[in-house]
Amino acid sequence: MALPLRDTTTHYGRISRAFHWAMALLFAWQFTSVAARVLFEDSAFDDFMWAWHRDVGVLLFTLLLLRGAWGLLNLSRRPPSVSVMAKLGHLVLYGLMLVVPLVALLRQYGSGRSLSAFGIPLMPGFEGPEIEWMVALGSIFHGLLGWTLLVLILGHVAMVAIHRRYAHHDVLTRMAGSR
Ligand code: HEM
Ligand code: HEM
Repeated sequence: MALPLRDTTTHYGRISRAFHWAMALLFAWQFTSVAARVLFEDSAFDDFMWAWHRDVGVLLFTLLLLRGAWGLLNLSRRPPSVSVMAKLGHLVLYGLMLVVPLVALLRQYGSGRSLSAFGIPLMPGFEGPEIEWMVALGSIFHGLLGWTLLVLILGHVAMVAIHRRYAHHDVLTRMAGSR
């Protein structure tokens, strides 16, 4: 039977899945851009990937807001969490998906530099001194929480595999495949 658009108590629907997998791909791209910067600084690979970091970051932030709203609309119908830890883990993932780009955007605004994403102007920038607290917030937390998010994502993927292998609970069927 075709998967419905909305979630059901046994499966995530088509919209939730589209958000989940599109964002998973974009996160893979985003962390590749960071890895390129850290591991292959000033290489052609770094230059190419890093040029997209802000654009893809803004796109992820926008998708997160839409995904969060869709999640709230479907809250009473989605598959129940397999444990309190799973529920907490997903909540922390949401928290970091929100805060990581948010502090970067605050830093960008506070620095007075302009910002556009995919050619769309978002911040005009301004003359004069930086807004120090915004810049400090981003400089302290963006990278730190960004790496934390990566670790949690790897943990999340590992937990899906562990559930399949050892708990005989194939949670992947909730997010992938047919009903
Ligand atoms: C969810 C989206 C994002 C993720 C997962 C992410 C992840 C990261 C990570 C892990 C670093 C640290 C690199 C290092 O340690 O050298 C970093 C650096 C950076 N990011 Fe992002 N980022 C995101 C969105 C954004 C956005 C929206 C902007 C700008 C508007 C941005 C601008 C920067 C800049 C300028 C740096 C270099 C300075 C620094 O290390 O803080 N990022 N990002
Ligand atoms: C290969 C990569 C991934 C796999 C195999 C995977 C698998 C899954 C599965 C099976 C579920 C359903 C779990 C359940 O209902 O208990 C799920 C939910 C979830 N996943 Fe992933 N995931 C991956 C990547 C990611 C990434 C990169 C993120 C970003 C932070 C993420 C965030 C979430 C969140 C927040 C949920 C809760 C449901 C929702 O609100 O969408 N996942 N994932």
